[in-house]
Amino acid sequence: MKERLLQLEKAALSEISSLKNKEAVLEFKNKYLGRKGELAALTKEFGKLPPEERPIVGEFINSIRGRIEERINNLLTAFAQSEREQRLKGEKIDATLPGRYLALGKRHPITQVMDEVVKIFSGMGFAVAEGPEIETDYYNFEALNIPKDHPARDMQDTFYIGEDVLLRTHTSPVQIRVMQNKKPPLRVIAPGKVYRRDSDVTHTPMFHQVEGFMVDETITFGDLKGVLTAFLHSLFREDTAIRFRPSFFPFTEPSAEVDIQCVICNGKGCRVCKGSGWLEVLGAGMIHPMVFKAVGYDSERFSGFAFGLGIERIAMLKFGIDDIRLFFENDVRFLRQF
Ligand code: PHE
Repeated sequence: MKERLLQLEKAALSEISSLKNKEAVLEFKNKYLGRKGELAALTKEFGKLPPEERPIVGEFINSIRGRIEERINNLLTAFAQSEREQRLKGEKIDATLPGRYLALGKRHPITQVMDEVVKIFSGMGFAVAEGPEIETDYYNFEALNIPKDHPARDMQDTFYIGEDVLLRTHTSPVQIRVMQNKKPPLRVIAPGKVYRRDSDVTHTPMFHQVEGFMVDETITFGDLKGVLTAFLHSLFREDTAIRFRPSFFPFTEPSAEVDIQCVICNGKGCRVCKGSGWLEVLGAGMIHPMVFKAVGYDSERFSGFAFGLGIERIAMLKFGIDDIRLFFENDVRFLRQF
């Protein structure tokens, strides 16, 4: 028995040195040390031995098992280590390589100004509404007290899609749509794209406006002045001088244009403000009774103000940009600066 055990150990130890990988080692382990392995087979004959030999042989079997196991474990450790080394070699990092540029997206300057305007008015309790860019003649003109032959239609060179269908020339039609669907009190702004047939350094065929209006029983021109002053002071500087100038819009009466002191020259007069020291930023006024009539509001009971501002113009002033077309060329060298 001892002879056979020694032979088994010899065979095992000579076989083990030829094992090439982890799988082979595990197979080998099973073959010799497994429950149905060769060592187990020999152990089965244990019972045939005279009792006094059993402890000696038992101890011998255990020592063989111990030696084989030790070799197996050493081999597995070695394989694991070389596998790891192999892997690390493939993952080698060259810390001297230049880093990769991570392009970071930014909001478009127009979107930034738009978001800021919306935020300021939201803070004053205004809700946000939207309307379609493709409008009907009725919403864009008629309901805003601009009848078919009204000379004010010439003020805005309209893109027509059909006889009564057009690209809205301003966000004012959203006033009508909201008032048709809701009763006062109302405090609403309507940001969006508008279209006019116009193109030069200060005009693009598409640009952005934010419309705003407030309707209740006691709204006065004083409310208009207060709201717009607070807005402009928040958007520009707290001490920016503001001026209301009489003007005309068919859908407001009285009407005003609002100027801020030139942010480029601080009112001294420069190329941007054409020497006047003032910049026009808003159109506004008290909502015309004819507009209330179109939406079925009682103009004896309700009053309101409305205003509209051009986002591109504000963005040009805020960022010091002198050509509006830069906003829409989408040159990343330009856009990255904001
Ligand atoms: N809709 C006008 C425009 O585009 C601006 C405006 C809006 C004026 C509301 C008065 C009241 O030019």
